[in-house]
Amino acid sequence: MAVRVDLNISLDGFATTTDQTPEKPFGDDWPRLVGAYVATRTFRERVLHDSSGEGTTGVDDKYAAAYFDEIGAEIMGAGMFGLHDFPDDPNWRGWWDDEPPFRCPVFVLTHGDRPSLELQGGTTFHFLSATPQQALDRALEAAGGKDIRVGGGPSVVRDFLKAGLVDQLHVGIAPILLGRGIRLWDDLRGLESGYDVIVETAESGTTHLTFRR
Ligand SMILES: NC(=O)c1ccc[n+]([C@@H]2O[C@H](COP(=O)([O-])OP(=O)(O)OC[C@H]3O[C@@H](n4cnc5c(N)ncnc54)[C@H](OP(=O)(O)O)[C@@H]3O)[C@@H](O)[C@H]2O)c1
Repeated sequence: MAVRVDLNISLDGFATTTDQTPEKPFGDDWPRLVGAYVATRTFRERVLHDSSGEGTTGVDDKYAAAYFDEIGAEIMGAGMFGLHDFPDDPNWRGWWDDEPPFRCPVFVLTHGDRPSLELQGGTTFHFLSATPQQALDRALEAAGGKDIRVGGGPSVVRDFLKAGLVDQLHVGIAPILLGRGIRLWDDLRGLESGYDVIVETAESGTTHLTFRR
C-alpha cells in the first residue's frame, strides 16, 4: 500500500491559477497548466467519457493512466471539491458529472458538515474534519488494501507532505510561468531527502518528476 500524489504545477511551482471570472470559471491559465494532461487519451476516456480513442498516447498518457491505477480511496480538500467556490450551495456535487472519474470512496476534508454523496460508477464522497493521519486511517479502512491517492489541492497535499505521509509524489511540470497562486514547494525545505527522484520529459514539454520512497 502506498500514499500517492499527482499534481500539475507550473515551472515556478504554482498548482492553482488566479484568473477565473464568472464568465470563465476556469480562466485562461488553467488550460495552460493542465493542458497536457487533459489532452491524453486516459483523461478523455476516464474524465470526459469519450470512447472515441482520441487523445495523446505518449509519456503524458502513461502518467495519466497511472493516476487511477490501483487506487482504493482518494482524499481531497474542500477547495478541490469546489466548496470554496460555491459556499452557499448545499446541493453542490463537485466539478465532475454524475459519474466522477474516481470510482472509489473519496474523503473530502472540510470543516463544514455535509451528508455523504453517492454517485454513479462507485464514487462516494464523504466529508470529514480530521487530521491528515486520521483521514488517511479512514481512507485505508475503505481502500481494501489498495493505494490511497491524495488528489489535491496543494494546501492539503502540503499538509500530507509535511506530516511525512506521502510515499510517492509525482508532479507534471508544465513549461509555463504563472507568477502567483498557491505554490506547492513552500516550507518543504529538504523534502527530497528520503526519496529517490526520477525525471522524464514528455513530448508536450511537460517534465514529469517523481519522488518515490
Ligand atoms: N494543479 C493540480 O494538479 C490541482 C489538483 C487539484 C486541485 N487543484 C486546484 O487546487 C485548488 C484548491 O486547492 P487549495 O489548496 O485552495 O484547497 P484544498 O487543498 O483543496 O482544500 C483546503 C481546504 O480543505 C479544508 N481542510 C483542509 N485540511 C482540513 C482538515 N484537516 N480538516 C478539515 N478541513 C480541512 C479547509 O477548508 P474549509 O475550512 O473551508 O472546510 C481548507 O481550506 C483548486 O483551485 C483546484 O483547481 C489543482
